[in-house]
Amino acid sequence: MADKREKFGGRLAVILAMAGSAIGLGNIWRFPYMVGEHGGAAFVIVYVIATLLISLPVFLAEVMIGRRSHTNARDAFARLSRQHPFWKTTGYLTILIPTLIACYYSVIGGWSLGYFIQSCSLSLTRMPPENVSRQFGSFVSSAWIPVAMHLVFLGVTVGVVAGGVKSGIEKFSKVSLPVLFVLIVLILAYSVTLPGAGEGVRYLLHPDWSELTPRTFAYAMGQSFYSLSLGMGAIITYGSYVSKKENILATSAGTAVSDLLFAILAGFAIMPAVFAAGIEPGAGPGLIFQSVPYVFARMGATMPVLSAITAILFFLTIIVAAMTSCISLVEVGVSFLMERKGMTRGRACLVLFLVCGGFGVLCSLSFGPLSGVTVAGMSIFDLFDWVCSNILLLLMALLVVLFVGWILPRRVVYDEFTNGGRLRLNHLLFPVFWFLIKWVAPVAVVIIFFTNFIL
Ligand code: TRP
Repeated sequence: MADKREKFGGRLAVILAMAGSAIGLGNIWRFPYMVGEHGGAAFVIVYVIATLLISLPVFLAEVMIGRRSHTNARDAFARLSRQHPFWKTTGYLTILIPTLIACYYSVIGGWSLGYFIQSCSLSLTRMPPENVSRQFGSFVSSAWIPVAMHLVFLGVTVGVVAGGVKSGIEKFSKVSLPVLFVLIVLILAYSVTLPGAGEGVRYLLHPDWSELTPRTFAYAMGQSFYSLSLGMGAIITYGSYVSKKENILATSAGTAVSDLLFAILAGFAIMPAVFAAGIEPGAGPGLIFQSVPYVFARMGATMPVLSAITAILFFLTIIVAAMTSCISLVEVGVSFLMERKGMTRGRACLVLFLVCGGFGVLCSLSFGPLSGVTVAGMSIFDLFDWVCSNILLLLMALLVVLFVGWILPRRVVYDEFTNGGRLRLNHLLFPVFWFLIKWVAPVAVVIIFFTNFIL
């Protein structure tokens, strides 16, 4: 039977697409802060260990599930478990989670677009610095502009996905990933040359060994999971487009290294500037939509052209980083609708646009007209994020790990890991992988889950 399913073109294409999914807001607005607050260089070491021992095996497990089943994330579990009812139901989670995330992730994409436009019109760098913070508040609560930006961002994202795996996703990642690295290096060059930037470099590098605690380890694991897009069906879906000849250990390691490298570059691009402006670093939206714009506004007085250019490049970086991640989120639902419901790619994309667009509008409005609507004290936006990042992601990661470690026969896992025994190094490393995925990873995921609640 001829294989009509699309595939990525080769190793580089796989790494770039997966790195596109991985490199996103997590690298830009969370990693630098986590490093600074949890022991600087000491945190980076813990993070690398956590990635090697836990996240990389889970990443491999997801790629395997996708490649072995050669189908969308919902059917992957059903097919590999021979239609076991529990795993058939579980499969739906892998479609639900990324679709929910795409709703609010694209709202942030929309804000970046708004700030990009403001940077281009020079209104950002000409603003009195003390107004920056207030301006963010009035922007996100202004209802129609953020909603429109969200829909434009989502529209472009879905447009790329509609182009298909090879001529949409692959082509886009091949251009955007190198561009992202160039952009972040340019911003870094601007940032570290500002007067007073040394303080920010020190914030990131000071090794505080007293931070080497189990709690730090749990934070590092949580961050590493999120950053590698685990537990959300995205890597399973991309894995299903990987050729049987590919060495999945090499592609997964390549993705993890690119993701880490970008996170570190983002840290050195952002923190020195924030310290040079004499403000306290934070994490999340405040960092990229308040602290960093404050820097641009302040420097705008003395270096108007350079600051304006850097501001434009900065928001472009965020748009592109968020978009490649959002593409992988949307693709999960699209591949499901195409294979399960027999839709064409175009129609599946339209459905995702309507669903994510619709719920995204609610998330967006929860900063303005709907700010009074709360569930358990959280706004709609926060609720989506909290449920996905803290609960569903870890639940799904646990299921993935248990599935590969305990449900799939060892022979199948070996076969995927070593391409039927042909890859020598993978053959030698298999016992290590098997031990990590069977014993270490499940325990680690449960620990992160409880740490999120107790601490
Ligand atoms: N990895 C992305 C980031 O660092 C965020 C993310 C988490 C994600 N899970 C995902 C993106 C699943 C796409 C698919 O920002």
